[in-house]
Amino acid sequence: MRTKVVAGNWKMNGDQAFTRSLLTSLLDQLGGDGRPSCEVIICPPAILLTTAREALGGSTQGSNALGDRVPGSSFIQLGAQTVSEHEVGAFTGELAPSMLADAGCSHVIVGHSERRTLYGEADRHVVAKFKAAQAHDLTPILCVGETLQERQSGTTQVVIERQIRALLNELGVAALSSAIIAYEPVWAIGTGETATPAQAQEVHARIRQLVASRDMAVASGLRILYGGSVKADNAAELFSAPDIDGGLIGGASLKADEFAAICRAGSNR
Ligand code: PGA
Repeated sequence: MRTKVVAGNWKMNGDQAFTRSLLTSLLDQLGGDGRPSCEVIICPPAILLTTAREALGGSTQGSNALGDRVPGSSFIQLGAQTVSEHEVGAFTGELAPSMLADAGCSHVIVGHSERRTLYGEADRHVVAKFKAAQAHDLTPILCVGETLQERQSGTTQVVIERQIRALLNELGVAALSSAIIAYEPVWAIGTGETATPAQAQEVHARIRQLVASRDMAVASGLRILYGGSVKADNAAELFSAPDIDGGLIGGASLKADEFAAICRAGSNR
């Protein structure tokens, strides 16, 4: 069985005090006997990664002096919201994958629809970021999804397949053996409107079929998350669909009680 993943995308919200208080509350609610069986990841703004790492007990997953990956003291893993496709140099405002790994990140979101639409990230940029992340042992969470207009004109599958094929054609299917995909219909993000479990399941199954047409084993191990107005009261139903392996949570990840409840809904026990 695939271990579910619940990832919180804080977007551009929070400060140091918020970070400490939210994480203290999450550790209280999910630590000890309440520890969820799913993987839990939080993706705060980059400037809060260090504060988050400290609040989680000093280290999440970083490197020791020999450069080996060492598991940290917390079960909550850290992710970033985007990454540069470049390694180092004159790229004002950007953050290199090595910097995110050094700050304790194990994951990074790439291709979120807000980055695609507001910052002009095309498929080729997303693929380059994905590749750069993996070169530094960061697990990419690749976001794909259609707009309302695309859904209404019946091109949902075409759009999703274009976004995933861009990656498969450039990096090969093996790149998905250490990655996560998040299906996020753009019309459901931050709108309060959620895809029904049946709508989401249909797209998730098609994504898995597309990957399976290249490699069955990679497809069966691939975690495909749903994102778009997931809340405590709809998470369990969404997560019970056979091809929905957890969620990428925006607004509800900013409330400790909501996010903790979603993590419990993602637990396979
Ligand atoms: P939402 O955002 O849960 O607030 O809809 C999801 C996302 O953008 O990842």
